[in-house]
Amino acid sequence: MQTFNFSPGPAMLPPEVIEQIKNDLPEWKWKGVPQGASVMEVSHRGKAFEELIDEAEQDLRDLLGIPSNYRVLFMQGGAWGQFACVPMNLLRANERAGYIVSGGWSKSAAEEGSKFGEVSILASSEDALFNLVPKLNYDVIENNKKNHKGDNSQGNSGTSYYYICSNETVYGNEVHTLPSKLDAPLVVDASSHFLSRRIDVASCGLIYAGAQKNVGPAGVTIVIVRDDLLDRAPKAIPAVWHYAHMAKHKSLFNTPPVFSIYVTALTLKWIKAQGGLPEMERRAIARSSMLYDALDGSKLFKAPVLIEDRSRMNVVFDSPSVEIDAAFVKFCEARGLMSLRGHRVRGGMRASLYNAMPVSGVEALLSAVREFEASHA
Ligand SMILES: Cc1ncc(COP(=O)(O)O)c(C=O)c1O
Repeated sequence: MQTFNFSPGPAMLPPEVIEQIKNDLPEWKWKGVPQGASVMEVSHRGKAFEELIDEAEQDLRDLLGIPSNYRVLFMQGGAWGQFACVPMNLLRANERAGYIVSGGWSKSAAEEGSKFGEVSILASSEDALFNLVPKLNYDVIENNKKNHKGDNSQGNSGTSYYYICSNETVYGNEVHTLPSKLDAPLVVDASSHFLSRRIDVASCGLIYAGAQKNVGPAGVTIVIVRDDLLDRAPKAIPAVWHYAHMAKHKSLFNTPPVFSIYVTALTLKWIKAQGGLPEMERRAIARSSMLYDALDGSKLFKAPVLIEDRSRMNVVFDSPSVEIDAAFVKFCEARGLMSLRGHRVRGGMRASLYNAMPVSGVEALLSAVREFEASHA
């Protein structure tokens, strides 16, 4: 039986990447040259690994069109690490950080951020059960400017940065247009839709993404940060969390997660070979529309997220009861459709349709939806 993995992350990798890993596992061949060991056993200071990480950075730059005044960092600590690393580096004394809360991840990021300084929640959709992306009220920013007690000479709002999670994995909402007209850099947690669509890097101060959804295995977090933000950090922060320090050492200050970076490098090449981000975006729209159309036409299931804010990556849906939810998940598992249970804090179902998910996986899920519905509606 063919299985399809709808896990929200760590998530499905392209079969071609898994095949390459299998070939390389006993002995890594870099550009056809055997390295005498697997990739997990070679030094990160060796020429082969240094070339690999350089190529991975270049591939990422090509895919996203990253301007030359941005650094690319391969860091550890996951997205949770960045929840702390961002304020540690960017939140100035006497200023605040403005968070847009569209789900559990941005809420956690704001809570973590508040350990390091003042955080204000500029908009939240918690009251709407995170079934939409809250709209940023620009009047709030204007008010902040008026009330700012620090250095107001630049006419700024006393805001060090604005923060948004551009795809909330648990609640299945996605920001389709990033806020603009901001008076401070925008920080974006793009973990769960990274490289599934084009993004205007120049409109952001910093973008980060844990690799384990669309780009590789857990263990590496990609950070894209504008040069002028590198040196904001006070000196007294740990070296491994210091953006400028990591940039100076090209992410090789301490031992990096070599295996995760190697798989990420393979996945970046796979994305390029498939046609890059325009093609990833086309596939994401095709896959998610098929499923949302079926759910919107269903008598049993409902997709609760506001249509214009729906995620192309994480399709969240519900049946009328937890019992039916559980029966549907079991029904799917018997058909090889795995990991469809919703997040533990939300319940319901969630189908994660990342870059590696083929259309045939969505077709198999649609058949299951129809069959199950016929016996339960
Ligand atoms: C959007 C988003 N941000 C942050 C996180 C936390 O990531 P990690 O557990 O790797 O720290 C996740 C995890 O799924 C996520 O989906």
